Amino acid sequence: MRAFNILLSISPLVSIAADTRASEDARLNPSNHEPSCFEDDITCNASIGPSSSMLDFFDDSLLEEDVLADIRDNLLAGRLVVIRDAFKPEFAEHVHSVLTGDDIQWNHRNRSDLKRFNIVNHTIESQEIVDIFNNTKSRELMTRVSGRSCMGHDAGFRLSEFKPGDHISHHTDFHDKNAGLRSTNLVWNLSKDWQKEWGGAFYWAAANSPEAGYHFPTFNTVFIFIPNQLSTHHVTPITDIAKGRRLTLNVKYSAEDLSPYSVERPIEDLYGRKEDHILLIKNEATWITRTMNPDNAEPERRQKLRELKESVAKNYLYPQEHDAVYVVEDAENDGDGEDDGEDEVIVTKDTSILDVLDPSLLEDDKLMGEIRDNLRAGKLVVIKQAFKRKFAERVWEMLDNQVSGTADELRNAVGVIDHPETSAFFEELSGRRCRAKRAQRAWFRPGHYQDPHNDFGQNGFGNRKEDTRSLGFIWWLAKAWSPGRERWGGEYVWYPSKVMSAMFNKPGFNELFLFLPTASSVHSVEYVEQWSKSKLLSIISWFHAGVGEYPVANTNQLEDLARTKDWNKLSYEQAKFIVHEMNPASFTADVSGQTLLLELKEKVAKQYLYPSDDSAFYIDWELEEH
Ligand SMILES: *[C@@H]1O[C@H](CO)[C@@H](O)[C@H](O)[C@H]1NC(C)=O
Ligand SMILES: *[C@@H]1O[C@H](CO)[C@@H](O)[C@H](O)[C@H]1NC(C)=O
Ligand SMILES: *[C@@H]1O[C@H](CO)[C@@H](O)[C@H](O)[C@H]1NC(C)=O
Ligand SMILES: *[C@@H]1O[C@H](CO)[C@@H](O)[C@H](O)[C@H]1NC(C)=O
Ligand SMILES: *[C@@H]1O[C@H](CO)[C@@H](O)[C@H](O)[C@H]1NC(C)=O
Repeated sequence: MRAFNILLSISPLVSIAADTRASEDARLNPSNHEPSCFEDDITCNASIGPSSSMLDFFDDSLLEEDVLADIRDNLLAGRLVVIRDAFKPEFAEHVHSVLTGDDIQWNHRNRSDLKRFNIVNHTIESQEIVDIFNNTKSRELMTRVSGRSCMGHDAGFRLSEFKPGDHISHHTDFHDKNAGLRSTNLVWNLSKDWQKEWGGAFYWAAANSPEAGYHFPTFNTVFIFIPNQLSTHHVTPITDIAKGRRLTLNVKYSAEDLSPYSVERPIEDLYGRKEDHILLIKNEATWITRTMNPDNAEPERRQKLRELKESVAKNYLYPQEHDAVYVVEDAENDGDGEDDGEDEVIVTKDTSILDVLDPSLLEDDKLMGEIRDNLRAGKLVVIKQAFKRKFAERVWEMLDNQVSGTADELRNAVGVIDHPETSAFFEELSGRRCRAKRAQRAWFRPGHYQDPHNDFGQNGFGNRKEDTRSLGFIWWLAKAWSPGRERWGGEYVWYPSKVMSAMFNKPGFNELFLFLPTASSVHSVEYVEQWSKSKLLSIISWFHAGVGEYPVANTNQLEDLARTKDWNKLSYEQAKFIVHEMNPASFTADVSGQTLLLELKEKVAKQYLYPSDDSAFYIDWELEEH
C-alpha cells in the first residue's frame, strides 16, 4: 500500500497530546470563531470565515496527488476508506467543542424506518461548520477525492448524537427516495474516548468476517464511501451503560444534475467497462437501463450501448443476489387451514427429531439432498413449516404460557434435540460431528438485538465451549410477526447475501434456520421495536464437535480433507488445532503424507480460519511513524 510510505512533516500526534488545552480554550470562549492554534504548528493560521473550506483544515498530507489517487482507486473499487486523524487537530477540537457546547440543543429523531438519533438545532457556529463542508472548494476537493462529481447543490448535512437505544438499521444510502444524485458520503467521527462496550459501532457489511466489519475508529477519523447497491452499513444500538458522547458529522455529497440525459454524451466510453459503472449516479444509471434507446444513436455505437444497458442493469443497479440463503418453502400444506388429518404428537424422553419434523420433508430424498448440499456449502438454510403443525402449535402454546402444568411436557419437547438419532441426522446433513446440547428457549423482547457475529470462536468472550460449535439451530415460533408493511425489527440478517434486500430474513412461525458456523457466517438480529405486538419466540441450540473428532480424528480423514479442500467441515476448534497445534510427524511417518498435511495447515489458515478481507482501506498515520 503506497499510502504507508507517506511521512508527515508535522506529526499530528504531537498536537493531539495537547487535546485538553485546546478544548478548554474553545469552551472558555464559545463565541471565538477562530480555531485554537499551537505556537509550534506553523500550518495552523487559517480562521473560519465565509471562504473557509476543507482545504484549510484537511490534513496537508491528504492533499498530495498520490494520496488522493490511492483514496480514489479504493473508493471506486467499492471499499470503505478510513482515514485516521483526517483533519487538523485544532479544527477537530473546535467542532467537538461546538457540539458539546451548552447552547446546542438536540432534537430526537425517531423514524419508523428504524433510524433513531439526535440532530442539532443549528447555532451560528454549527451552521458555520456546515458551510465549510458545503463550500465550493470543499465540493471540488471531494470531487477529486472520489472521482465522482460532488458539485451538486443539495448535499445533505447532519450533525448527530447517539444516545442509549439509538441506532441506524442496515441501509445503503443508495435506495432512499432522494438518492438519485447522491455521489459520495463522508462520516466524521467526533466521539472522544468511546468504548466498544457502549455499542454504536459502524459496521460495514461487505466485510467477510466480523473482525473486518466492525470499525471502532477514534476521534477525528473520517469514513468515505460511494453509495451503491453493495454499500450496506449500519450503526449498532448504543447500550444503556454508554457514558460518552457519540458525535458525528455526516455529509452526503451530490452530483450536478445532468438531466435530461441523452446518448449525445459518449456514455459507452465513460462507463462501458464493468469497473466504471460505479462512476454512474443512480439517476443516470436508471435512465440507461430503463429509458435509453440505443437505436437513437449512430449505427456503429448501437451494439456498445446495448451492452452498456444490459451490464449496468446486471452488474450495478440489480446485482445478482449472492444466493447465500436456501429457502425450503412449505410444499405440502398450502394454506388449507387447521385439520390436515395429522395426529396429536405425544413426546416422551425417547422422541427424536425424526418423530416431530414434517414427514413430507423427511420423505423427500431429493429435497433432503439439496438441504445437505446447501448447508455444507455454507449457506443459511431456511425451512418453512419444518415441524409437524400440531407439534409446533403445542410448543408455542407452552412457551407462550397459555397452558399450565406442562413443565415436563415442554422439557421432553425441547429434549428432542438431545436424542442420539437427532445427532446422527444432523451429522448426515452437515458433514460435521454434531454432539447435541440441550436447547434453550429464547424470547427476543422489545429492545433486544444481536450485533453482527459469526459464532465461530473469537467472539471476545473467551468461551472455549463456543470454539467447538459445529451447527447452529434456530427454530422460530413467531406468530404474525411484522404483518404487512409494519416493521417490528427482529429480522435475522445474513451478511453473506451482500445485497441488502436479500440479507433480511423475517422470522416466521415454525421456521427452522440452520447454518454452519464459519468465519463468514456473519449474522445479526435487528433491534426489536417497542411497538411490536406479538412475541418473537424461538428455540435455539448448538451442536458441538471436539477437536479429536470427525473429520480430524485420523490421518486418513486429514488427508481426505487436504485433497477435497472441504474446509467447511471444520469447527473453529478443529481448524485452530490444524493450524496451530497439529504436528504432521505425529500423524504419519510417510514423507509425502507429511507434506500434504503441511500444505493443509497453510491452506486452512489462509482460506478458512483467517480469510483475507479487503473491504476497507485504511490510512493510518500512526502506523507510518518511524
Ligand atoms: C499562514 O501564514 C503563513 C506565514 O505567515 C502564510 O504564508 C500563509 O499563507 C498562511 N496560510 C493561510 C492559510 O492563511
Ligand atoms: C428544535 O427546533 C424545532 C423546530 O425547528 C423545535 O420544534 C424544537 O423544539 C427545537 N428543539 C429544541 C430542543 O429546542
Ligand atoms: C417511535 O415511532 C414509532 C412509529 O413511528 C412509534 O410507534 C413509537 O411510539 C415511537 N417511539 C418513541 C420512543 O418515541
Ligand atoms: C449549500 O450550498 C448551496 C449553494 O452553493 C446552497 O444552495 C445550499 O442551500 C447549501 N446547503 C446548505 C445545507 O447550507
Ligand atoms: C466513532 O468512534 C467510536 C469509537 O471510538 C465508534 O464506536 C463509533 O462507531 C465511531 N463512529 C463512527 C460514525 O464511525
